[in-house]
Amino acid sequence: MKKMLIACNWKMNLTTSESVALVQSIIEGIKNKKISPDILVCPPFTSIDAVSKVLKGTKIFYGAQNCHFESKGAVTGEISIPMLKELGCRYIIIGHSERRTYFFENDELVNKKARAVLASGLIPIICIGESLREREENRTFDVLKRQIEIGLSRIEPEYCVQIVIAYEPVWAIGTGVSAEPEQIQEAHSYIKKELIRVLGKRASSIIVLYGGSVTDENAQSILELKDVHGGLIGGASLKSDIFLSIIETANLVLA
Ligand code: 13P
Repeated sequence: MKKMLIACNWKMNLTTSESVALVQSIIEGIKNKKISPDILVCPPFTSIDAVSKVLKGTKIFYGAQNCHFESKGAVTGEISIPMLKELGCRYIIIGHSERRTYFFENDELVNKKARAVLASGLIPIICIGESLREREENRTFDVLKRQIEIGLSRIEPEYCVQIVIAYEPVWAIGTGVSAEPEQIQEAHSYIKKELIRVLGKRASSIIVLYGGSVTDENAQSILELKDVHGGLIGGASLKSDIFLSIIETANLVLA
């Protein structure tokens, strides 16, 4: 059976009390139901501890949206992997396009973070994807190739079981305009081939998520694509009814 991960990236949204209320309604919504996909929430750092307490005893995973690659030190304002690990985080999103754009994170930094996350035993969700301009200039595959080659360099193939990739075309993030299913399948198929080229055949087990304006309305057409193994969901994950309906869709696709 296809493995699937439905992941939420709450970005810089929700105070601690709002985060707790949202996970409580997600838990309520899936209570007594058989849920086939894995579910992951990535709240802001300030909410992780409180959310972890509410999630105790449930099957929902939680993680962080970013980390520093050093385990400690004089780096004001940053959060280290051991800090997140102690809170029970299982996943850490790395190289989101908003971090690449607003905080100038490049592929080399993404690689440092990815390797540090893997070494700590946690799962990096490594985000890649082209900008609108890059797509219009027919450079999508070149960009994905560079992001994979550098972002995943010096990673031992045995880590393949511990890596998640999220394909998030920048032009589809937060715009309400998702990529078309054909564009998504084409990109995912290319990404899978590149992962195998860079990391060897063990990379065929790597989960590749799609992110960018996923909603309850388009979830089915995206999640049923052959090489899509789930979604990384921003805006639509902030409303419990919409998010629950996406989980329902994932359940149907996996049935
Ligand atoms: P939206 O779902 O709001 O487009 O955001 C996608 C995203 O960036 C998830 O990481």
